[in-house]
Amino acid sequence: MKPSDITVGVIGYGGAFNMGKHHLELAAQAGMRPLAVAEIDPQRLDAAKKDFPGIETYSSTSAMLKKSDVKLVIIITPHNSHAPLALQCLNAGRHVVVEKPLAITTAQCDAMIAAAKKNHVMLSTYHNRHWDGSIVEALRHVKAGTIGSIVRIEAHIGSYAKPADWWRSSKKISGGILYDWGVHLLEYCLQLINAKITEVVGFATRGVWAPFTPYKNDTNEDEATAIVRFSNGAFVNLRISHLDLNPKPALLEITGTKGTYLMDHSWFEIITPQNGKTVRVRGNNPPSDYSQFYKNIADHLTHHAPLIITPEWARRPIHILDLADQSARKGKALKPKYD
Ligand SMILES: NC(=O)c1ccc[n+]([C@@H]2O[C@H](COP(=O)([O-])OP(=O)(O)OC[C@H]3O[C@@H](n4cnc5c(N)ncnc54)[C@H](O)[C@@H]3O)[C@@H](O)[C@H]2O)c1
Repeated sequence: MKPSDITVGVIGYGGAFNMGKHHLELAAQAGMRPLAVAEIDPQRLDAAKKDFPGIETYSSTSAMLKKSDVKLVIIITPHNSHAPLALQCLNAGRHVVVEKPLAITTAQCDAMIAAAKKNHVMLSTYHNRHWDGSIVEALRHVKAGTIGSIVRIEAHIGSYAKPADWWRSSKKISGGILYDWGVHLLEYCLQLINAKITEVVGFATRGVWAPFTPYKNDTNEDEATAIVRFSNGAFVNLRISHLDLNPKPALLEITGTKGTYLMDHSWFEIITPQNGKTVRVRGNNPPSDYSQFYKNIADHLTHHAPLIITPEWARRPIHILDLADQSARKGKALKPKYD
């Protein structure tokens, strides 16, 4: 099989970040063939036709699966639709890439993984930020021992502002405040800490912004935290907040036994003690390369190259967030089903 034999369809051609175009362009760069788009919004189907003249368009997933010869389906819809749409496509014998997050709950991830196995098809998640220059550079320094062994990682994004009026602010649709950027930040942390998850604690605050949003009783948490303990003693403290008046200077602060590494989108800073002084060295991160994701998908489907973003890998951050949500409600730490 050649990459051009892999015909590609997307479900969801949204306008917020033009992600349908992004995915089809990267799939085409990897040699695969854009063939179809399924969208419930007719205006977005028109946009797809302009971007890819001659592309097949469908107003539902069922119609696309019935009439189109798409071999790989990419799901780019709001989070609560990922699991049902993926199950529909996997059970129709199609390979599936789901935008992050893979799903909202561990049980949904389990059902998707089982369906992929049963139907002998591939399931992966678009963890494009696995190839961010920031994490590639951080891993290089951490593996070289620059900051010693990792003791803890603080991963925070915060502001003091009303959530935007979109589906990402609905708990039912999005999964919660931690399910957008939180999933990316956890995936960075899981690359940095090579150990088993032993315990998760969650905290959540609700109700401050809800009265001012369209979702009212279903608005995301104002702030949520997931603290993850690992088998080697390290821990991650992930927080996404709309109550933060003192945002942190970097996306990740990685504290090691010999120094601290600050990781942000475009820059890093290594802070080490030298002869009784604190030395700070700043640098720029290399560019991100998201084309690697679809190159690996094409290599996997054509030559059985090992899949880099396996569904089991993509389930790890979801399992953490699912446990953190339950832990916040129960008020106690929880043990994982998957480590
Ligand atoms: N990896 C990244 O860097 C990145 C960046 C942006 C968005 N995302 C992810 O992409 C996904 C979509 O986000 P977005 O910003 O594109 O949202 P969006 O609201 O712009 O687009 C979603 C689209 O899905 C369509 N849709 C909804 N249900 C559908 C269905 N059942 N069948 C067909 N179409 C359907 C909507 O009409 C809409 O056009 C989310 O999972 C989000 O987290 C990832």
